[in-house]
Amino acid sequence: MESGNTVFQWLPCPVVFICTAHDDRRDIMTGTAMFVSEKEPLLTVSVATGHLTDQLITASGQFLVAVAAIGQTRLAIQLGSTRGEKMDKYTRFSIDTLPQDAGNGLIPKAVSSWMKCKVESSDTIKGYRVVTGRVVENGDLSRPPLVWHNDAFWNLISAPESGT
Ligand SMILES: Cc1cc2nc3c(=O)[nH]c(=O)nc-3n(C[C@H](O)[C@H](O)[C@H](O)COP(=O)(O)O)c2cc1C
Repeated sequence: MESGNTVFQWLPCPVVFICTAHDDRRDIMTGTAMFVSEKEPLLTVSVATGHLTDQLITASGQFLVAVAAIGQTRLAIQLGSTRGEKMDKYTRFSIDTLPQDAGNGLIPKAVSSWMKCKVESSDTIKGYRVVTGRVVENGDLSRPPLVWHNDAFWNLISAPESGT
């Protein structure tokens, strides 16, 4: 039996930027996401309660998930180690965003894809809000995505496995 949080280390997961806004405030943080079903466009994120991201999701009833692309590791570290309560991260890290009509002007330009979600359910466990959202708009920028595994960032640029 391994010690430490093996779930966090061993379970490969997409690196995403969770983008939020309400009234005159906005925020962006590094996180992950999983799909809920093959039939419905639902996805789930887990966000530490009390953080600005959590507050803005709760206040607005929506959030954007932007899948980080190769070349965005530095940005993922920056947005995963700073708090929106203390700064506007878009300004602090000079984040260029897609136009307003693609992701409300909150999506970093160089991402892999993005999905705008309306909150369908929300629950809390051990200091995290687990939020399931329904995708209502999306866009594919066709860049290879970043993956988090074994405390490191990986890219997905090799050929897919054939399965035969
Ligand atoms: C690779 C990576 C994945 C992360 N995943 C999550 C996550 O799923 N949920 C979470 O609450 N924080 C996660 N974090 C930490 C948040 O990004 C960090 O707490 C951030 O400062 C929160 O931003 P905010 O305070 O502006 O909301 C992750 C950080 C990294 C680097």
